[in-house]
Amino acid sequence: MKILVTGGLGFIGSHVVVELQNEGFEVVIVDNLSNSTLDVLDGITKITGKKPIFEKLDLREKNAVSNLFSTYKDIYGVIHFAASKAVGESVENPLLYYENNLNSLIYILQELQKKDKAHFIFSSSCTVYGQADSLPITESAPIKPAESPYGNTKQIGEEIIKDTCRVSDNLQAIALRYFNPIGSHESLQIGELPTGTPQNLVPFITQTAIGLREKLAVFGNDYPTEDGTCIRDYIHVVDLAKAHVAALKRLIENKSATNFDYFNIGTGTGSSVLEVIKTFEEVSDQKLNYQIVARREGDVIAAYADTEKANNVLGWQAKLSLKDALSSAWQWEQKIRK
Ligand code: UFG
Repeated sequence: MKILVTGGLGFIGSHVVVELQNEGFEVVIVDNLSNSTLDVLDGITKITGKKPIFEKLDLREKNAVSNLFSTYKDIYGVIHFAASKAVGESVENPLLYYENNLNSLIYILQELQKKDKAHFIFSSSCTVYGQADSLPITESAPIKPAESPYGNTKQIGEEIIKDTCRVSDNLQAIALRYFNPIGSHESLQIGELPTGTPQNLVPFITQTAIGLREKLAVFGNDYPTEDGTCIRDYIHVVDLAKAHVAALKRLIENKSATNFDYFNIGTGTGSSVLEVIKTFEEVSDQKLNYQIVARREGDVIAAYADTEKANNVLGWQAKLSLKDALSSAWQWEQKIRK
């Protein structure tokens, strides 16, 4: 079965391609290389022994999307990662985010509508919940007004898919609401490659530890949590990747009563920023240079997943620990700086 993975050379996309190939799916990767490199294709091939088909293409070009689906008439499912994801940049340049994240989604769905049968998985985010009223966060928690244009594209994206599924019996879709993906493949052939200064905690930690950054700024220790720092649900990217295979299989087996569904993908455990630092210090066997600074605008206090729905319905569960994830992130950082 041929599966199209958009953004398949990115951090999460590349790990999903590996899991798909390991499960016997044939993969077509589409990527515009705006935030990735062709080396990732080699990394994937080294792990699986099978080179995925690759098309360099910008999904904002409607004709190019049409041509893609004409070339690969037997695409059976699409996993759609290709999107811009920097919260701060989205505040500065909202139209870039609305154009890139929503136009590409619309063009793909238009093509899928034409098929006899189509399966679609969308990269969504726990950002749709904002600061949830209760923890852990279940899928029935209300969607809160988005804090950024980036977050808004995830909310609007889910709505676009839901409305399209309502009028498209041929289409089955799942939105996966990721918590905080970190870590790298154990082979160290693929991992996270942030461009410029990392915005996320774990790549900032590993770059500080390797000496690329002087120190980590911890954004606030006066939150109403046990140690005063924010709490997140950090999930190993390989566990997250496996959730996509489980979701795809559910779609293909046509088990769902509805043709649009959504799942939290996390570990179910929250860790504070200081806990992440402490665990990193353990696995790397070194002290991390960090300093508490002011809060970062837009950060929620705490977010971690209730994973019961994913566990029971998808039959999927995160298996790897925070230690495993941080250890792989650290090994990856050391490997790429050699
Ligand atoms: N943090 C620091 N210092 C840093 C970077 C992060 O203290 O240099 C803290 C943040 O304040 C937060 C935690 O580390 O408490 C995690 O921050 P990340 O930026 O790694 O992750 P977020 O939870 O803020 O962001 C993630 C995704 C976004 C998504 C958001 C929604 O990266 O794409 O979840 O909750 F929008």
